[in-house]
Amino acid sequence: MCGIVGYVGTRDAGDVLVKGLKRLEYRGYDSAGVAILNGEMSVQKGKGKVINLEKSLAANEIKGHIGIGHTRWATHGEPNDVNSHPHLSESGRIAVVHNGIIENYNSLKRKLTENGRTFHSQTDTEIIAQLIEEIYTGSDKITFEQAIQLTLKQIVGTYGLAIVNLDTPDKIYIARKGSPLLLGIGENEMFIASDASPIVEYTNKVVYLDDGEMAVVDANSYEVKTIDDVALTKEVHELAISLDAIEKAGYPHFMLKEIFEQPRSIADCLRGRINEKNGTIQLGGIAEVMDDLVNAKRIVIAACGTSWHSGLVGEYLFEHLAKTPVEVEYASEFRYRDPLIGEGDVMLVISQSGETADTLAALREAKARGAMVLGICNVVGSTISRETDAGVFTHAGPEIGVASTKAFTAQVVVLTMMALKLGIEKGHINKKQAKEYIRELAAIPDKVDQILKGCDDVTQDMAKLFTYAPNFLYLGRSYNFPVALEGALKLKEISYIHAEGYPAAEMKHGPIALIDEMMPVVVIAATDHTNDKMVSNIEEVKARKGRIISIMNSENSEVKDLSEFSISIPSTKDCFSPLLTVIPLQLLSYYIAVNRGCNVDQPRNLAKSVTVE
Ligand code: M6R
Repeated sequence: MCGIVGYVGTRDAGDVLVKGLKRLEYRGYDSAGVAILNGEMSVQKGKGKVINLEKSLAANEIKGHIGIGHTRWATHGEPNDVNSHPHLSESGRIAVVHNGIIENYNSLKRKLTENGRTFHSQTDTEIIAQLIEEIYTGSDKITFEQAIQLTLKQIVGTYGLAIVNLDTPDKIYIARKGSPLLLGIGENEMFIASDASPIVEYTNKVVYLDDGEMAVVDANSYEVKTIDDVALTKEVHELAISLDAIEKAGYPHFMLKEIFEQPRSIADCLRGRINEKNGTIQLGGIAEVMDDLVNAKRIVIAACGTSWHSGLVGEYLFEHLAKTPVEVEYASEFRYRDPLIGEGDVMLVISQSGETADTLAALREAKARGAMVLGICNVVGSTISRETDAGVFTHAGPEIGVASTKAFTAQVVVLTMMALKLGIEKGHINKKQAKEYIRELAAIPDKVDQILKGCDDVTQDMAKLFTYAPNFLYLGRSYNFPVALEGALKLKEISYIHAEGYPAAEMKHGPIALIDEMMPVVVIAATDHTNDKMVSNIEEVKARKGRIISIMNSENSEVKDLSEFSISIPSTKDCFSPLLTVIPLQLLSYYIAVNRGCNVDQPRNLAKSVTVE
């Protein structure tokens, strides 16, 4: 949700900011802007993509060595030129970019207006620039830094902020509460960003700001403190991601690249963690809490979107393999109930970005009530990964496409390893069985590769036929019910086709009324122990002239004969099947969205990392 960049050093700030904003564009892409200090405050901003900003910066020849930039996902005020960031104070000497929501902006705005300040935008951000200036210019004794601190104390809400002031033309001020910010340390230059992607090509040394912290940054030094002015010594981390990992590598879209990366990302997730020969699993991140996990009364999984779907797969896995009761919660609902969770419970939060506001809030709620909190995250250094008691990284590599693909499979792989490990520790899986499971798990990357090679053409053919279908239904049972939900989510978010996922048996309780000769029904009939039932459900759809697309185990001629299109996947254990069945569904959505001319990597109204509630 909104991307922030900042630069101070010897390079052309406009270049660094625009390049950084392009890398952050997946966080929000309805408008973009920069403020560059060059003796004056040069602001260029407007509705639309970063490419427009790049052109106008070049046309206006705005140069300088220090500046801040922003790519927006609108919360307050429609996406237009005026509401784009940066926002300026009354005098135009202070510029602010902001990620987050200021909840008390109305009352602050009223007060500032009564004091004679004029507002130009409908944003909550503009009040920050105005309030800082009001405090700063209100007394000779107040430094700019103090004015920022006093402002932050009046603000209710969340923020990642970068601020520049013409009075201190070599400094950038940053602050964080609820929205991620990190500082990249270069040689005589510093970088600021919402995540590591704009920084990685310049330096691998970073400092993560925590909530309630701010920093004053110039080209050669930085000072981190709390907003109460207590100086802090922060650890300098080394970034592990490479530049290649955040580029398209010849693919037309990040989403397609990420789909095709899955044999490797799954192998990376498994690497060093499973031992086929001994039938053992090692998960360093949770080794110290294994006893608590073994003794847990239950596991509560909280997540959003695709991560919630992987959590649902997790429920089947933990209950089947480890005999531990599991509840799966929408993170957003969990925190606003009066959740019954406490000591002896384990909360497991799942998040690709590690920054999702609802998931973070659920984590904090569970922690406050005494539960142990574990995490499954992709982004190392993310807030969720730092706030959990322990956890396992998915190691899927940066996921840039807004539609999650390789993060889903990596999350399911981690859940599988956790459930197997717990099952082994609890004595529900013996040595022989453990070896069998692990041997099969180790074969998954090759099977995914096989599917990608085998079904790319057929999904393109299917996509051609169904490009203009107005609705889709996805049906699955058992482990593949969450995959039905995931397939439907993928299709709707990138192609804007209405799609619903259902447990197949639930269809007859309502959705069956939708079925006619216009309705494509995707059935995931690849879970052996429910296949007979699935065949009956397919017959029910056929009887109403629905058009069957099936994802099935090879050699399932019954399902094949009933289907207009079928994609067969290599056989595996039922509990690993989501790792295979989801792949054709990702491709189908991708090709339909491309045929419809949709912006696959940046679908309308969405953002990769949802840092507002
Ligand atoms: O970063 P997270 O995994 O916490 O994100 C959760 C959801 O916002 C995310 O999965 C979203 O649903 C994706 N657009 C799905 O493709």
